[in-house]
Amino acid sequence: MAKSEDKFKKVLSHAKEYGYVFQSSEIYDGLGAVYDYGQNGAELKKNIKEYWWKAMVQMHENIVGIDTAIFMHPKVWKASGHVDAFNDPLIDNKDSNKRYRADVLIEDYAEKLNLKAQKEIKKAAKRFGDAFDQAEFEATNPRVLKYKQQQKEILERMGSSLEKEDLEDVKILIEELGIADPETGSKNWTNVKQFNLMFGTKLGASAESAMDLYLRPETAQGIFVNFLNVQKSGRMKIPFGIAQIGKAFRNEIVARQFIFRMREFEQMEMQYFVRPGDDMKYYEQWKESRMKWHLSLGLGQDNYRFHDHDKLAHYANAAADIEFNFPFGFKELEGIHSRTDFDLSQHEKFSGKKLQFFDPELNKNYIPYVIETSIGVDRMFLAVFSNSLIEEKLADGSERTVLKLPAVLAPYKAAILPLVKKDGLPEVARKIINDLKFDFNVTYDEKDAIGRRYRRQDANGTPFCITVDHDTLTDNMVTIRHRDTMEQKRVAIGELRNIIDSEVNVRNWLSKL
Ligand code: GAP
Repeated sequence: MAKSEDKFKKVLSHAKEYGYVFQSSEIYDGLGAVYDYGQNGAELKKNIKEYWWKAMVQMHENIVGIDTAIFMHPKVWKASGHVDAFNDPLIDNKDSNKRYRADVLIEDYAEKLNLKAQKEIKKAAKRFGDAFDQAEFEATNPRVLKYKQQQKEILERMGSSLEKEDLEDVKILIEELGIADPETGSKNWTNVKQFNLMFGTKLGASAESAMDLYLRPETAQGIFVNFLNVQKSGRMKIPFGIAQIGKAFRNEIVARQFIFRMREFEQMEMQYFVRPGDDMKYYEQWKESRMKWHLSLGLGQDNYRFHDHDKLAHYANAAADIEFNFPFGFKELEGIHSRTDFDLSQHEKFSGKKLQFFDPELNKNYIPYVIETSIGVDRMFLAVFSNSLIEEKLADGSERTVLKLPAVLAPYKAAILPLVKKDGLPEVARKIINDLKFDFNVTYDEKDAIGRRYRRQDANGTPFCITVDHDTLTDNMVTIRHRDTMEQKRVAIGELRNIIDSEVNVRNWLSKL
């Protein structure tokens, strides 16, 4: 089995075993691409959202957060273009009856060319050692140039065919490249068709009077339709942002990547309203700022890269993804889009209401331009979780599984462990918990030998274990063990709060921004 597949399987089973993620309705054999978060998962997810909200809303004087409804007037989706253009090109394999996104098949093929180029670069770096000039090599090596050129041509052709709605050419491209069904190897493809991703539902008591609604496929439109409400009630001046975290729904065609691509998921989106003409300046600023947010969590700089879009969504004049190195390769984690004045203009047109800002400095009204940052909570969860899951060989030859979650995001910050279940040690442990629980989410564990409890907390991602032993009864000191270094220190009970705080306090993490 390929190493990455192996790692992905471990991520899935660990998420279930330790109460992070369960398949939805599992006892009924599950529901495709729908997942539930368990007791640890719900905490991790909440902490991710809080980390985003604090960085976005609390740290920016000119960004406010709102919470809008999932149901919206159906005209919203006509105006936004989702009814007509929120489609994915799908293709079926006639032999396997499996359904794929045609663009993803082509993108995966193009990514393989990129990987070939990277392999050449790595080989050369090894061969030339310190004397290796990567930029020079990339610019001159014929094989690297050939792979990169092929990749570029393929993506450009696909982008232009999709833009022209030339689905026949997308199929021809798949055939020309010899792309086979990734699961069966068959090249027997149907034509490419467009498929709308919105879920429909009905509002109303009787069939005759019911109104057709959609479950929102993005949270952004709730922000656009409230743009003036927020601007006026908050007396906001351009540039300003409106942020929101909430559920979104998409009837995804390909749903085989755990919580990477779900049919019900959560987004953290922010729309930044700017003067027309300032859009590219803020687009670049937000690209940089969002990358810094990711890097602040310490998952490793090499695990991120930007991918500028060749194929733009119907609303954008520029767009880039922040891609993350998931167990199945680099894939989109967050999108940064320059949405122009498309959405507000469309809502003006469809609602007949003015959605303009009076700029006192320019002494005129205009429809602001918008820069959007949009990240999936679940995708962020997967990035953090999969990157943190590590199997470590220890000095004594044994192995441990440890979930090295950024401490600020960990579900429990500390586990309090009485060495034995008697002699008054559990009572002291409970006293410590009763004090720490006002500041941190802490847990208690008295079952099994202490070494097994340490391992269990390592696998759970708990940054600290605090052991109460017999000496504690007389010296008021405990042993604190660090998850990542496994270092143990004897400290006074009164010091615990500060020690834990120094690693988990959001201030220390966000000040890296
Ligand atoms: N408002 C813009 C928008 O929705 P998008 O690129 O379609 O843009 C933004 O989605 C982010 O939402 C993605 O980068 C991804 O993190 C997340 N996302 C999109 N579809 C998803 C799905 N089916 N499951 C989980 N996350 C998803």
